[in-house]
Amino acid sequence: MFLKRNKEIEIDYDNLPEHIGIIMDGNGRWAKKRGLPRTAGHKTGAETIKKIVREANRMGIKYMTAYAFSTENWKRPKSEVDMLMDLLLNYLKDAERLMHEDNMRLRLIGSPNELSPEIREQIKHVEELTKNNTGILWNIAINYGGREEITHAAKELYKDIENGKKSIDDITPDDLEKHLYTAGQPDVDLLIRTSGEQRLSNFMLWQVSYAEFWYTDKLWPDFDEQDLHRAIADFQQRGRRFGGV
Ligand code: FPP
Repeated sequence: MFLKRNKEIEIDYDNLPEHIGIIMDGNGRWAKKRGLPRTAGHKTGAETIKKIVREANRMGIKYMTAYAFSTENWKRPKSEVDMLMDLLLNYLKDAERLMHEDNMRLRLIGSPNELSPEIREQIKHVEELTKNNTGILWNIAINYGGREEITHAAKELYKDIENGKKSIDDITPDDLEKHLYTAGQPDVDLLIRTSGEQRLSNFMLWQVSYAEFWYTDKLWPDFDEQDLHRAIADFQQRGRRFGGV
């Protein structure tokens, strides 16, 4: 269901998705359309995610995960990677104040090892500072890949078997889930991707098993609070059966 732009978007606050995943796509095209460098698109995109997380928190959404940098994004030109890393560091410095003031929690999902010591330390610092807040938990996916996450979880599970904590015959999906970066969090209910692309791009492969997908042609820097409302209202019209009838 697509609601008209000026029509009031009705949201049922008793039926909010618990966990929203976002693939923020189209920063480069947004900049190109304006004759600007790609980095200008990322800069505006970083402002967009700030306002979307704030709005999701205001609405009472409990978990949000946004794909900021994938394990494949290292293949981009060094200048773009460096700029994205600078942007992330600045964002994380701002997040310290912005997120804490608004009672939000931040968590990194992804492999920290390839990140600069400065980014790793800042993430640890903000995670620690915000860990007792009770608002939205915002997972920022940096150096994240779904396959890498599942492989990491499988290795951890193997260690549990090796040291006798688990027997191989007793392994269940829940045991693997406990080793994902999102351990203890609910699966993604609603997955939003911007820019007209309809791919998963290695995002949260395990957690989107029963997610409802929602796409828009809008480029990420243009995505706004109304679009978030629209996606949630549309989600609320879907019949979810989780494989049942
Ligand atoms: C995809 O657009 C976007 C990314 C690869 C990175 C997303 C990053 C941000 C929104 C900014 C940094 C985030 C934070 C949290 C500070 P694209 O460059 O692939 O766009 P294109 O497909 O139009 O080229």
